[in-house]
Amino acid sequence: MILSIESSCDDSSIAITKIDTLELIFHKKISQELEHSFYGGVVPELAARLHIEALPIILQECTQYFGNIKAIAVTTAPGLSVTLGEGVMMAKALSISLNLPLIAVNHLKGHIYSCFLEKKTNFPLTVLLVSGGHTQIIEVKNSNDMRIVGQTSDDSFGESFDKVSKMLHLGYPGGPIVEEKAKTGKADFYDFPIPLRQSPNIEFSFSGLKNAVRLAILKEEESADILTEYTISNICASFQHAAVSHILMKLKKYFKVQKPTSFAIVGGASANAFLRTECENLCKSYNCELILAPLQYCSDNAAMIGRVAIEQYLSNDFISIDDIDVQSRIKN
Ligand code: KG4
Ligand code: ZN
Repeated sequence: MILSIESSCDDSSIAITKIDTLELIFHKKISQELEHSFYGGVVPELAARLHIEALPIILQECTQYFGNIKAIAVTTAPGLSVTLGEGVMMAKALSISLNLPLIAVNHLKGHIYSCFLEKKTNFPLTVLLVSGGHTQIIEVKNSNDMRIVGQTSDDSFGESFDKVSKMLHLGYPGGPIVEEKAKTGKADFYDFPIPLRQSPNIEFSFSGLKNAVRLAILKEEESADILTEYTISNICASFQHAAVSHILMKLKKYFKVQKPTSFAIVGGASANAFLRTECENLCKSYNCELILAPLQYCSDNAAMIGRVAIEQYLSNDFISIDDIDVQSRIKN
């Protein structure tokens, strides 16, 4: 079994996965959303302190498996260095006390493998990664050959939902809240610009759209002290429509040329139902298989880190205790 630790942002999580069968034996996650919602976003130092409390609580629940553990895996990049450090510290302590080798896992690779929990990989695959920190299209040939073919030049898809939510004082994380409000709003109420519409390149940008939402909110606030539910829902629906349309327009360009046979959407923001439905329709029209991670494993979790770690374990990809450090595996 492999014990894996994830602490790249605001989720403390530990998993135990069987190496030979890929079976997920144990998985637990303690989220810090409530603590950060007060600030409208993740406060790194607060997140690190909360990991110090939460990680040992989860670890207590898996001591019974310690005798079967063959390696300790931990997320080392990308993420917030102060929170990654807490996971790495725990991994080092476990490695020394249980005399086990260490595996350094790239968080983004983890998101890709969230599609393959308890199952074999299905490569080649084109992946749309949409999280709080990233918006990328990645071509995956195999576990060691992954190429980014398009990404955002500023904010990420998930981050733009967080920022719109913050501007509307709706709380954090913004994705699920904005999506919920959008359900009762009119998507064509505000004519927000779809970013990079004229550009032939496969690239993303969300800062212009975010600014258009900011200006619309300011204009509404000029005529009313408090925004009504009606206005908030319409802003959310119109924003979500523009943000998802932006992604879909770029995906259509990509599909037209590359015609992928397997396509996956991963990352916390892949939980967005509108995005999922639009991608489903796109895949259908190209007779392309759509692979989705189970909803509970879309956001950050240690199960996906453990799944990557099995591949690394089997190819002897270990790291020494002296070399392991946060961001040490950016090359992945
Ligand atoms: O992958 P994740 O858990 O953490 C990072 O690695 O960043 O993704 C979190 C991000 C947040 O920005 C959150 O607002 C966004 O995913 N998110 C969503 C939805 N659920 C979560 N964005 C849009 N729609 C959603 N339903
Ligand atoms: Zn993530």
